[in-house]
Amino acid sequence: MLKLGFLASHTGSNMQAIIDACQAGTLAAEPRVVISNNSQSGALARTRQANIAAYHLSERTHGTALGAAILAAMQRHEVEVICLAGYMKKLGTEVLTAYEGRILNIHPALLPKFGGQGMYGMRVHEAVLAAGERESGATVHLVDEEYDQGRVLVQEKVPVKAEDTPETLQKRVLAAEHRLYAATLARIAAGEIPIPLPRSRA
Ligand code: GRF
Repeated sequence: MLKLGFLASHTGSNMQAIIDACQAGTLAAEPRVVISNNSQSGALARTRQANIAAYHLSERTHGTALGAAILAAMQRHEVEVICLAGYMKKLGTEVLTAYEGRILNIHPALLPKFGGQGMYGMRVHEAVLAAGERESGATVHLVDEEYDQGRVLVQEKVPVKAEDTPETLQKRVLAAEHRLYAATLARIAAGEIPIPLPRSRA
């Protein structure tokens, strides 16, 4: 079982899709801990309901010790792979270093297009429509110190329809995200997508 930790700031629907896949047995993984910078996030509420360890850790609660606190929580729960799921903050060097190559994010567009600082939420879909793109999609990529720049692992394309609004496009892309994130983790758990897992598993 791949031990997963999550960082989420808002709704947490991607995190939920992964938890559901674990419970359904389609993903050989175990959600161990969820951390949110937002005490009111849907992600924390969902997690408490699912009986998974949940922490509110933010710059406000921890100041400059935030990175160390996130790392300590991940390690305490023996997390092997960290999944960012709508996490709106940059990760500190402590976590980036300790989990190098083992931190994933999902982005609601086909990176490298429509990524980077300020490209999040509805803004992404507005930009895709404004550019007249015929297709968009979802990207699972590794996380490094820059927003949306780490190596792309997998993408799923989604058609853009002539009548789309940012809201209808977001809905179609989000459905793809939910499929893709869990499926990607399943491939990682099966060793089909190699990432540097801790020595104990190798
Ligand atoms: C998703 O669109 C994801 O691609 C982006 O943030 C959004 C999070 O949604 N990184 P949710 O919190 O998983 O519902």
